[in-house]
Amino acid sequence: MENSYQKTWKENQLVELYDKFRRFIDPAEKEYIKILISEIEKHCRAHKMDSIRILDIGAGAGHSTVPILASLSKKFKIEYDYLDVSSNQKQEFIKEVKDNKLQKILGDFWITSWEKFSGGKKYDLILSYHSWYGITDWQSPRNNTLLKIKKYLTKNGMGAIVINSRNNITQDIVLERGEKIVSSENLLEAMKSLDIFFLKKPLYYFNFNKSTFLTGEKIKRSAYGFFGYLYRKPFGEMGKLEKEKLMRNLLNRKDDCYFKIPCDLIEIFK
Ligand SMILES: C[S@@+](CC[C@H](N)C(=O)[O-])C[C@H]1O[C@@H](n2cnc3c(N)ncnc32)[C@H](O)[C@@H]1O
Repeated sequence: MENSYQKTWKENQLVELYDKFRRFIDPAEKEYIKILISEIEKHCRAHKMDSIRILDIGAGAGHSTVPILASLSKKFKIEYDYLDVSSNQKQEFIKEVKDNKLQKILGDFWITSWEKFSGGKKYDLILSYHSWYGITDWQSPRNNTLLKIKKYLTKNGMGAIVINSRNNITQDIVLERGEKIVSSENLLEAMKSLDIFFLKKPLYYFNFNKSTFLTGEKIKRSAYGFFGYLYRKPFGEMGKLEKEKLMRNLLNRKDDCYFKIPCDLIEIFK
């Protein structure tokens, strides 16, 4: 079943807003991607892999994927399959890949949801980089989407999910607005009950703090794009009351960790 997040992506409402959001948090994501790459390399070396077949769930415009592929392809032979529920970012993805001269590693493009996906290959690495918010059925007893990762992994394969944890400014705003959103805490709980073997690596971006988002009692202009995506409309279209409530909530936060975009890297093994 489709959730509202998946639906808005499909209908192309979030792409432009997400681009601005993503540009704002890019320094944090760069750090997280570096850690993810080093974890993948460690795993592949431990299992003496010299080639890696990758499936990327919710690959989007490739903001995360392309730097990962660029780095891994220097050390390993890569075969890469793209999967996204919406088709509207595929062209941007291909452009990024061409700019980085990575065309030769491209394999299949699946424009479908992870829930509906049914392919004939197994993968050494299955990635979900900030895409699990749109995936359903991870608690379901039938066709469970977390167990599905295991099903599509090779014997020594690894699943890698990067997802926000609960005490995070981005999660909090979405929840405050009444949208349901999954956090890493929810997924970890589900994995325990499904007996999935996993490792968790917490990620924080230490250079972000309250003043990254606020100057005194004002939202920083540079952060408009950040809030626009979370409110699912351009910052200028937010109402006065909405902005005041946002300000109050941000000013009241005492824990700096909240502003450091805390995520978890969850590694899943067969
Ligand atoms: C926040 S974007 C992340 C894109 C990319 N991984 C990145 O890090 O820049 C989430 C992506 O997940 C995709 N998505 C959402 N629900 C999905 C689902 N159920 N199956 C596959 N893709 C999904 C969206 O279309 C969107 O491209």
